[in-house]
Amino acid sequence: MLPKLDEIRLGVNIDHVATLRNARGGAHPCPVDAARLAVEAGADGITAHLREDRRHINDADMANLQALCLELGKPLNFEMAATRDMLDIALATKPHAVCLVPENRTERTTEGGLNAAGLHNQITPIARALAENGSRVSLFIEAVPHQIEASHQCGAQVVEFHTGAYAHALDTGEKSQADGLLQAMRLGAKQAARLGLEVHFGHGLTFDNVAPVAAIPQAKELNIGHFIIGEAVFMGLEPAIAKMRRLIAGARKINI
Ligand code: PXP
Repeated sequence: MLPKLDEIRLGVNIDHVATLRNARGGAHPCPVDAARLAVEAGADGITAHLREDRRHINDADMANLQALCLELGKPLNFEMAATRDMLDIALATKPHAVCLVPENRTERTTEGGLNAAGLHNQITPIARALAENGSRVSLFIEAVPHQIEASHQCGAQVVEFHTGAYAHALDTGEKSQADGLLQAMRLGAKQAARLGLEVHFGHGLTFDNVAPVAAIPQAKELNIGHFIIGEAVFMGLEPAIAKMRRLIAGARKINI
């Protein structure tokens, strides 16, 4: 039995195993096999994004991932756009959690957070239907006060703060901008917790940038995909996940 990361979970996003599979149109590498390995390596949950264009994860993957997570007793975090079609799939899948994300067919990846304030009337009934169906609902937003407040108003139980801009600022050497974004996430986490929202973080997290985010006391879950799958090419999936867990534990001063 792997030691637990008390108070903070690592969700491993396996979308890009499907990206690699789809490059050849066959069945290998299988994202469900990757999810099993990820859990064996210490992932506390599995995250997958069923995009409207099905560019990586497909409908069968999502059903198979939910079956695997039930078998392993681990949570599946189903990321999706806030649309009627996706809602129907999520209601049938009954994942532990659903994270509503903005989606744009021309983007390379999820750019920016959901406009929870502007889309209140679209998001609220979807969040309610998902919660009534037993899924915990999170909104993927920027850590700005009006979006945090709006997420609460929409009925979300969780906010996941988009760490992409912070990661990008560090990549491009804009240290003071990264510090400002990190500070906004710290303040946002406090605001969200005061509203009773659980706080998660994700996007663009790597071995180099994860520690300051993991150290935010309100952080309950980090969802990390692209870097772990990319690093697995060099060191293997299990060592990549184990190293990420060690870095997160180190930031929280947890012995694992
Ligand atoms: N969290 C959310 C809501 C996402 O949309 C994504 C990317 O799909 C991630 C986390 C993981 O981001 P990355 O693949 O950059 O680690």
